[in-house]
Amino acid sequence: MFYKTNESHGLAHNPYKACLAPRPIGWVSTMSPDGIGNVAPFSFFNGTAQNPPQLMISINGKGPNGNTKDTLQNIENTKEFVVNIATYALKDAMFRTAAPEQPNTDEAEIAGLNMVPSKLIKPMRIQNSPIHLECQLTQIIDLLSDTDNEKNTMVLGHVIGIHIDDNVIVDGKVDLKKVNPISRLGYKDYAMLGDIFQLDAAWRKS
Ligand SMILES: Cc1cc2nc3c(=O)[nH]c(=O)nc-3n(C[C@H](O)[C@H](O)[C@H](O)COP(=O)(O)O)c2cc1C
Repeated sequence: MFYKTNESHGLAHNPYKACLAPRPIGWVSTMSPDGIGNVAPFSFFNGTAQNPPQLMISINGKGPNGNTKDTLQNIENTKEFVVNIATYALKDAMFRTAAPEQPNTDEAEIAGLNMVPSKLIKPMRIQNSPIHLECQLTQIIDLLSDTDNEKNTMVLGHVIGIHIDDNVIVDGKVDLKKVNPISRLGYKDYAMLGDIFQLDAAWRKS
């Protein structure tokens, strides 16, 4: 099939996000200027560069009552955020933190998450997540939006500090089977890692 994205795809469900799968889940913790914590997952998320390490998240649409989502509001105000890696063990808590809550509600409390201080920035980290990326905002970019009140926004960040649980480091490498990250597919579907294989650049020369 082919469809123009400004016309109907003709399917029962929009296939777009299933075409971009698997997507890692950036589980973002922020803090309001008043010190109220906030946690929410984002799968329009990925790295953008390694030297220096940078990443992006896209925050789309509105929160409850038509307000800007708390994550974006907090990042605009404080210029700081933590990306915590969502794991299978934390999947229910991750999903719980996606529920629309009022800005004065800390989703971490509702989801029973224990938060610990960051080293370089004010937002807290999710203790049970094995990887935390402490980020400083570098740019906020307005994206195309279908309507003025459903704005799409991309947040770019500089990763200034990385925490990796020593238990997931084996022979000097991050053991992703131990991390057990989950990813977002299309529809209501998620996935865990399947088989891991290697490609070695030396093979191309042989
Ligand atoms: C797995 C998952 C991925 C999500 N990805 C995004 C995303 O990429 N962008 C977005 O705006 N919302 C995304 N959401 C929805 C937000 O998490 C949700 O709107 C949340 O309430 C925002 O919280 P906040 O207002 O505290 O920032 C996702 C939800 C789930 C469960």
